[in-house]
Amino acid sequence: MIIPNGGGLQLPPFFELSAFQTIDSTNVEARRLAELGMAEGQVVWALKQESGVGRRGRQWSSPEGNLYCSILLRPDCDATQGAKLSFLIAVALHDAIAEFLPDGMKMALKWPNDILIEGRKTAGILLESKSNSHNKLDWLVVGTGINVANHPKVTEGLPAISLKEVGATVKLDALLKAYCLNLEKLYAHWKRDGFTPIRSLWLERATGIGSEVTVRLPKSSFHGIFKNLDESGALVLTMKDGSTKLVTAGEVFFSDTE
Ligand code: BTN
Repeated sequence: MIIPNGGGLQLPPFFELSAFQTIDSTNVEARRLAELGMAEGQVVWALKQESGVGRRGRQWSSPEGNLYCSILLRPDCDATQGAKLSFLIAVALHDAIAEFLPDGMKMALKWPNDILIEGRKTAGILLESKSNSHNKLDWLVVGTGINVANHPKVTEGLPAISLKEVGATVKLDALLKAYCLNLEKLYAHWKRDGFTPIRSLWLERATGIGSEVTVRLPKSSFHGIFKNLDESGALVLTMKDGSTKLVTAGEVFFSDTE
């Protein structure tokens, strides 16, 4: 069911908002708009999702009270470059949420794109894209879920937390607007100056730099010291023998921050 006129929420002209009471998944709707040829900047917002999707094919719990939205982008680049926009989105979300947090709350980004409060996951990002025959991105859909009023008590990954639990009073439309404003500003920055400044912004907000991490892959795991994020978006680890290892996939666990 559509909410007429986006419930009155005014976004900058770059964005075109479609708001729903209930939807299967905002990512599915944004992909549909992409395939219909809609311009970038489409925002699909739902108060509730019936089939919310997370990374690794996980389900994303989507009861009423949280923020679920997907934004259609059409960056002029290939899929490898486009995938790095997840760091930009993480910074945009981080700064939007930070506006509503009570003072003294510890907030951080965790590779590749989780948003943590007090070491627990408060928001997640799911990127989906399609490339054309010239290996250029045709579209990129950026789905974000923020635990505002609820969070799952049992998770397959990190423990979760909601903004309500940490005492933040947040209206969903105000949070969505703050996120969109940040995204538009950072996206313009990225178009102008590329990934390097976004990488710096992400690193300034990242958790665990200099500490030991465990990386879990489907069939193995290893430890190393988290040193950096490289220009490709890979996590740079220093291993026990002094060698450097680049991590491009896997689940990362920090022993002293989680
Ligand atoms: C993750 O697993 O961390 C990513 C979760 C992404 C969930 C959001 S909610 C809005 C959008 N619609 C979906 O079905 N998934 C994304």
